[in-house]
Amino acid sequence: KEGITVAELAKKLHREPAKLVKDLFMMGVPTNQNQSLGSDEVEIILAEYGVEAEQEVVVDPSDFDHYFEEAEASQDGLVSRPPVVTIMGHVDHGKTTLLDYLRKANVTEGEAGGITQHIGAYQVKSDDRLVTFLDTPGHAAFTTMRARGADVTDIVVIVVAADDGVMPQTVEAINHAKAAEVPIIVAVNKIDKPTANPQRVMQELSEYGLISEDWGGDTIFVEISAKFGQNVDELLEMILLVADVEEYQASSDRLALGSVIEARLDSSKGPIATLLVQHGTLHTGDSLVVGDTHGRVRVMADDSGRRIKTAGPSTPVEITGLQASPEAGDRFVVFEDEKTARAIGEERASRAQERRRQVTHHVTLDNLFETL
Ligand code: GTP
Ligand code: MG
Repeated sequence: KEGITVAELAKKLHREPAKLVKDLFMMGVPTNQNQSLGSDEVEIILAEYGVEAEQEVVVDPSDFDHYFEEAEASQDGLVSRPPVVTIMGHVDHGKTTLLDYLRKANVTEGEAGGITQHIGAYQVKSDDRLVTFLDTPGHAAFTTMRARGADVTDIVVIVVAADDGVMPQTVEAINHAKAAEVPIIVAVNKIDKPTANPQRVMQELSEYGLISEDWGGDTIFVEISAKFGQNVDELLEMILLVADVEEYQASSDRLALGSVIEARLDSSKGPIATLLVQHGTLHTGDSLVVGDTHGRVRVMADDSGRRIKTAGPSTPVEITGLQASPEAGDRFVVFEDEKTARAIGEERASRAQERRRQVTHHVTLDNLFETL
């Protein structure tokens, strides 16, 4: 007879087999420990013990959370991946200058003329190791992205100008980084200036719990000049040191999952999205759903505009081939075939439309109240 033995069921229910035999006997089912039980008998026992039979989990294919949760929990085919670093700080403290220096100093040979197009994410190579930098347009964008589920940053570098010190947006950046629960590296910038006072910056930051190792804390501080490149290599080294400790990993052999860094509509190419691959490998020709839209990866380019066919974890890419322009912070999921991607994309689009309709309805009600 098929089924489960009394002993096996007892084990599953964390009961003594003898106790289960006795209880079954009291219910008018004489058995012994090796006897198989049918589903009717099992059901009676479960009901008696108040245990709910495990229900099949119904997964909503349009809900992206479980794809990411499953990928994060999986130990399958893990490979180490580059850290994803976001640079934040107060206005004019030198974020763009630092990013520019990092890029220029690392532009691959043969790329005379440098990079013209602006893209929101790029990779820098140091000692044959890659670091992915995100050039978030502002702190609000960072928060919006996180609110939309795109927790893409591994490390935050906070730039503080040594001639200006801690300012409101510095504090904002610290709070964002703390909320994201990621390691913070402080880059004390503009140390080439005669009015630079790095000690004051350290003093001010200590009030926000960022205490340098020299002062007995555990925050990494690097004094740099983004303009002249002084100690920028050291900053990169520190980033790689954090990466060594954290051991960032992801699977490279699954259908790709990731987030939108930015997107725009090109008059001739259509929607162009900068995506960050977080799990798996993205291929040209892949069918995917991005936010509330879908499509196929028609052309894929790396951060310097070169066409590529595949992109693994932590790689930023630009793609064309989407039906509509997604938004920064939207997530993307690749599906096995175009049909599935289209069905899920359309389902998500109609749900988004429904949400917008409800919001509009809400606003109308509010307006009504205001006029009363
Ligand atoms: P926002 O994008 O407006 O928030 O500013 P930002 O943080 O990107 O600052 P940005 O890199 O644009 O630099 C602001 C000014 O500071 C520019 O004139 C830079 O040339 C100058 N600057 C940046 N880093 C340094 C530095 O290390 N030394 C000196 N002397 N000037 C710097
Ligand atoms: Mg800037």
